[in-house]
Amino acid sequence: MERSTAIQSAERGAAPPSIEAPCAVETQCVLRFQNVSKTYRHNASRMVLRRGLMTWLKRSRIDTFYALRNVSFDLGPNSSLAVVGANGAGKSTLLRCATGISVPDQGRVEIRGTIAALMELGAGFHPDLTGAENVLLNASLLGLTRKETLRQFDRIVEFSGLGSFIDEPLRTYSSGMVLRLAFSVAVRVDPDILVIDEVLAVGDIDFQEKCIAEIMRLKQSGKTLIYVAHNLPMLRQVCDQALWLERGELRMFGPCDQVLDAYEAAPPPPTL
Ligand SMILES: Nc1ncnc2c1ncn2[C@@H]1O[C@H](COP(=O)(O)OP(=O)(O)O)[C@@H](O)[C@H]1O
Ligand SMILES: [Mg+2]
Repeated sequence: MERSTAIQSAERGAAPPSIEAPCAVETQCVLRFQNVSKTYRHNASRMVLRRGLMTWLKRSRIDTFYALRNVSFDLGPNSSLAVVGANGAGKSTLLRCATGISVPDQGRVEIRGTIAALMELGAGFHPDLTGAENVLLNASLLGLTRKETLRQFDRIVEFSGLGSFIDEPLRTYSSGMVLRLAFSVAVRVDPDILVIDEVLAVGDIDFQEKCIAEIMRLKQSGKTLIYVAHNLPMLRQVCDQALWLERGELRMFGPCDQVLDAYEAAPPPPTL
């Protein structure tokens, strides 16, 4: 999970010229991607020496691929964006660039406001601490003061529904229980932008419904949501806009129903 303030931007390498006026971002959008590309290497961690030697001997190019290629879009305030695409399409990479966890190789990302991101379950928690201790740890990582956390503590525990398990160590929790804790803290820090990457799927039906109600409450209070999921009916219920990624490229961006209709009608990509 990650919370960041003010405008974040990331620029590296042969990035295109920056956008015309930063104030345009301040007034019109909370998130802007401009020609964002992110590459990774195949077999990045394996046989580094041998691969390096072969690359040098054969004078071949390093085997990189685009996890995101030239992606541009603007997200206005109070919007809720569904991000869809096949496995490996680049959805999590897009969220990592949006939250500042990853830096794009090219292009520019601008964010206005605070972010709370539910990306990987267990991130921002310690397995040996109890649920209650992890609430304090995680809330402070997300930028909440100790006083504010203690004020919110009972509401966080009540929303999580963990009952007496709140005093058990996190390593004994199921993934659904970790989700309960993580979501309960994330919504209480009251972020301007809430980013959710698939994790809701591990919650039981009751908790998923509670999460959706809470997301709707955030939406109504003018917050922005970015939500990656494969549950299309849920995305249609929650989101106004959608972004469809295919092999790292932006295939479609627009009104949620329109994009999801096209996504559902399209044949699956032949390989990952
Ligand atoms: N840290 C990394 N190192 C190398 N390859 C990565 C890394 N993170 C993601 N990838 C690759 O980037 C592509 C997009 O991944 P990801 O954004 O996680 O896809 P999605 O979330 O849509 O399933 C995949 O081919 C994945 O294997
Ligand atoms: Mg992913």
